[in-house]
Amino acid sequence: MKKTMPQGFLWGASTSAYQVEGAALEDGKKLSQMDLLNADTGFADASVASDHYHRYKEDIALMKECGFTAYRFSFSWSRIFPDGVGEANPKGIEFYDNLVNELIRNGIKPIPTIYHYDMPMALVEKYDGWISRQSIDDFVEYSKFLLLRYGDRIKDWLIINEQSIIVEFWKKKNYIPEKYHDKAQVKFQINHHMNLAQAKVSKLIHQYVEGGRAGSAIGYSPVYALDSSPKNMLAMLNAENLKNQYFLDVYFKGHYAKSASLYLKEQGLAPITEDGDAEILRQGILDFLGVNYYASKCVRFPEADKNRLTEAKSNLSGQKGQMGAYEVMPDFYQYMKNPNAETNDWDWTIDPNGMEYLLRDIYERYGIPMIITENGLGARDILENGEIHDSYRIDYWSKHLNAIHRAIELGVEVQGFLPWSFIDVLSTSNGYQKRYGLIYVNRDDEDLKDLARIKKDSFYWYQEVIASNGASCLN
Ligand code: BG6
Repeated sequence: MKKTMPQGFLWGASTSAYQVEGAALEDGKKLSQMDLLNADTGFADASVASDHYHRYKEDIALMKECGFTAYRFSFSWSRIFPDGVGEANPKGIEFYDNLVNELIRNGIKPIPTIYHYDMPMALVEKYDGWISRQSIDDFVEYSKFLLLRYGDRIKDWLIINEQSIIVEFWKKKNYIPEKYHDKAQVKFQINHHMNLAQAKVSKLIHQYVEGGRAGSAIGYSPVYALDSSPKNMLAMLNAENLKNQYFLDVYFKGHYAKSASLYLKEQGLAPITEDGDAEILRQGILDFLGVNYYASKCVRFPEADKNRLTEAKSNLSGQKGQMGAYEVMPDFYQYMKNPNAETNDWDWTIDPNGMEYLLRDIYERYGIPMIITENGLGARDILENGEIHDSYRIDYWSKHLNAIHRAIELGVEVQGFLPWSFIDVLSTSNGYQKRYGLIYVNRDDEDLKDLARIKKDSFYWYQEVIASNGASCLN
């Protein structure tokens, strides 16, 4: 019998507000930190992005044509509350009312992220954004507004996108004032504030949204050891603990992973906590996990001459082998290129087995349902005679879907596949040079062109996958 995904499996794709919407200063919206952080990078900025703000109807028609049953998008905090707090912006709300209603009219379940990197600049200017504890209350107020307005129509809520990546690339995913630049503890402080904010919102979802489920979208990479040398195996355990369980234990057990916490304390990097914080985390346990998986990671125990705190830096050129820097945590682990796996042009490992590995590993540890909320291949797509032949992306997704299916056969609850990305969007580190979409957007970093939507080969492939509930690509 032909294999399929389970009945009711959600099919769709994902985007985020600042990467897709544009209209950065339109209809009352004020700047978010992403509008500023993406200015002057040498790539496109977020001012127009993929112009979804003006073309959402056309875009939803394309989702429908592809057969989507779900769509993950994010709300822009500074479109709804331009100053982060205070008066809501009627035009901003109107946009999301229209978006949500149009999705529902087309039989597409909206799955929003409340926060995808874009803290309002007003709050950065007021109190340094997430660095201040005040951000917790302001985020809770903003979230409460969304829950009350959309909780009748939206049941699955992803609260924060990729906290793990916000910590790893803390100066790129947060607008960090100069005075903190050499204070690495700040990233774990930000993380602690986000944990408290998320836990509080999780509680509110259970309180205000009938049948609501609270989730988070984690940026997740399984960590492999370079080899079986005992020291390198220990480095793998260390990295799994600090990069993965340090987040998921909070989400699903309501407390921090122990070894990682003690290690951070030894290093002088642990967050400052207050009485009552532990109780807030205990009360805010989430119901499901959004998994953003692109690539697995490889570690070894730090080499003697590299054994000092080193922060990760992306590959900006898109030439293989030009990764800015690999992260090192002294006496704990050192990231490195996996000699046994292929990569894309930006040095991201291509590893479908990693998908099965992480799903089974997470499920055995936490026993929670999961939705794949991002998965995709960044590439320089070429437009040729009005067509884009992205067979490499089809191959990538086919293999990952087979890995997901195998995990499901082995008992893991995976409820949907929402890959990155629905349409080409502004990449977080590589502008429009690196594309992920099922649909091409006719623009590049320098020239906005006509922003036309052009279906890639992967769009037609995905249409068949969805129509057959996976059968056309499962083997
Ligand atoms: C995830 C983010 O980290 O990866 C997305 O949630 C992002 O916002 C995606 O676009 C791909 O990363 P990049 O840097 O290639 O755009």
